[in-house]
Amino acid sequence: MRRPLIAGNWKLNKTINEAEELTTALVAELADVTETDILIAPVFTALSRVAALVDNSPIQLAAQNCYPQETGAFTGELSPLMLKDAGCSAIIIGHSERRQLMGETNQLINLKVQTTLNAGMQVILCVGETLEERDNEEMLEVLSAQIKGGLADLSAEQMQNLVVAYEPVWAIGTGKTASDEQAQEAHSFIRGLIQGLFNPEVAEACRILYGGSVKPDNVDGLMAQTDIDGALVGGASLKADDFCRIVKFERIER
Ligand code: PGA
Repeated sequence: MRRPLIAGNWKLNKTINEAEELTTALVAELADVTETDILIAPVFTALSRVAALVDNSPIQLAAQNCYPQETGAFTGELSPLMLKDAGCSAIIIGHSERRQLMGETNQLINLKVQTTLNAGMQVILCVGETLEERDNEEMLEVLSAQIKGGLADLSAEQMQNLVVAYEPVWAIGTGKTASDEQAQEAHSFIRGLIQGLFNPEVAEACRILYGGSVKPDNVDGLMAQTDIDGALVGGASLKADDFCRIVKFERIER
């Protein structure tokens, strides 16, 4: 059985004070959650203050990006070890906004994945097709290149610390969610790719999150799908009530 994981990606939102306010509300509301893993990913400047607040709570801290080197002459960048030092146990890597706006390639993403795993941290590797790619029937090809590129040279053991997030770009921040069936189809395809690259045990154990306009009113149906093991939540993770309802999704018998 894969343990559900609900992760909040705060993106470029919230000052330190606002981040503390939201975190305080989440800690109060989610203190008793035991069956679901919870992660929040604030902006870098808020990390250490948020880390102090989530200490001794079920909430874990993630960063939204990193640089694939431990230290050195890389002005303006942050390494996984520094993010770990600030209190993070995980890093979101290869988000579609970084692929599109910052030109991140599968090769660079793979280096970030390796550096993060080598720092003993968990990776959330994001993949997903654009609307144009889906319309051109290139979705499977794109997902395949992102998964093979992102996971290149990893061992089966390293995969224990890696979570995949399937986020169709056309569903991010648009209010358009993939249907339960569309999401399940993509997740099942991704699990098959992981099986091909590693083995059935690794594929069976790997958690695959869905992301793209996950809200309180669609999370239950998504989480009922066989291959959906959690959610990566953007907009709705900025509101305490919405995020808490998503974390406490209703378990519908599969
Ligand atoms: P959204 O963002 O929930 O606002 O669509 C999801 C994401 O980009 O991780």
